Amino acid sequence: MKIKRIYIENFRSYKQRFFEFKDKINLIVGNNASGKTSLLEALYFCMCGKSFKSRDVDAINFDSYYFKLEMSAEVGDIEYSILCYVDRALDKRIMINDKKIKRLSELISLFKFVFYEPDTTELVKHQPSTRRRFLDMEVAKLYPYMTKVYSEYQRALLSRNAFLKSYDKKDIIDVYDMQISQLGFLIFQKRQEVIDKLSIEAQKIFSLVFENKSLLELRYMPSINASSEEEYYKELKKCLLKDLNLGYTTKGVHRDDFGILIDGKPAIDFASEGQIKLAAVSVVLATSLLYTEPVLILDDVFSELDKFKRKNLVKFISQYQSFVTSAEDVKTLQSEGILDFDSANVVFLERSI
Ligand SMILES: Nc1ncnc2c1ncn2[C@@H]1O[C@H](COP(=O)(O)OP(=O)(O)OP(=O)(O)O)[C@@H](O)[C@H]1O
Ligand SMILES: [Mg+2]
Repeated sequence: MKIKRIYIENFRSYKQRFFEFKDKINLIVGNNASGKTSLLEALYFCMCGKSFKSRDVDAINFDSYYFKLEMSAEVGDIEYSILCYVDRALDKRIMINDKKIKRLSELISLFKFVFYEPDTTELVKHQPSTRRRFLDMEVAKLYPYMTKVYSEYQRALLSRNAFLKSYDKKDIIDVYDMQISQLGFLIFQKRQEVIDKLSIEAQKIFSLVFENKSLLELRYMPSINASSEEEYYKELKKCLLKDLNLGYTTKGVHRDDFGILIDGKPAIDFASEGQIKLAAVSVVLATSLLYTEPVLILDDVFSELDKFKRKNLVKFISQYQSFVTSAEDVKTLQSEGILDFDSANVVFLERSI
């Protein structure tokens, strides 16, 4: 896919602005608070139907009642026009080629992109829920029907938890156990498949792009490890007494996690800040190898990387259309030979927009 252009109206600090992009590296440069991240956020919004930063309304310009984004992109030979409108009365409309979408998954299944922002390091450091969200997004991008499976699982889980707390209708729990096992086993399998692929690709990037001699590895840590739906069901059943006592479901894909290991040790416990960043960037870039022709959206990825790592990174990302922000002086990037400005499309942002 390729993003051709975007029109931004009343989004963050932008009032009205039009950007045209090239099929190569689009380097977005500007001082702090010049709107670099906001431009990436606008692209992200058009491809996901939501922000990665905050609630939709928070992105409306302080002086305005609404924001509007219009993005044009090419997927294969087909040109798509995406329109996103959000106002303070919480009216939200997303249209693909003038047709209003019913579910955000319609966007997610259309666009394949890789996204990195400074908070992505939370993937290594933080809660299992952050990793599950990341993993499930990748699963959903590869298998769009999985978004439905996730929401059905969530619904079955909520119902099971409600019945665990009530003193009657215990028999009905078995109905939810069957649903949870069926959906959970499917999620488990897809997650395992994606983790295995990502682990191999992340290792390649870690060693080739970042010239790291250590071994980077992703290891799935499912709360139920089963080889069949029936086994999943049996494992779930084993927890019934405990679940009844606690009033919630203690095992299932909603409790899964995956570990990011460097030389066999959990990065969360032992890695340096620099290693954490390299591991996070490697895992995210690894997702690009799962798709054909993804677009790379990378916010502030160069910072904290030395000259050689930056150079290798540029080499890697120049295979794709990419949107890369930097607060660095353009001359520095050029003089260090990190970016060849003849091949990059440089978007300069001034402080006042
Ligand atoms: N809803 C909003 N309305 C108006 N301005 C906003 C809104 N939300 C954020 N801003 C402002 O938009 C400006 C641009 O922010 P942005 O994060 O895009 O900058 P940046 O170029 O990425 O900066 P940095 O180099 O520090 O990362 C900031 O001054 C921010 O306070
Ligand atoms: Mg920024």
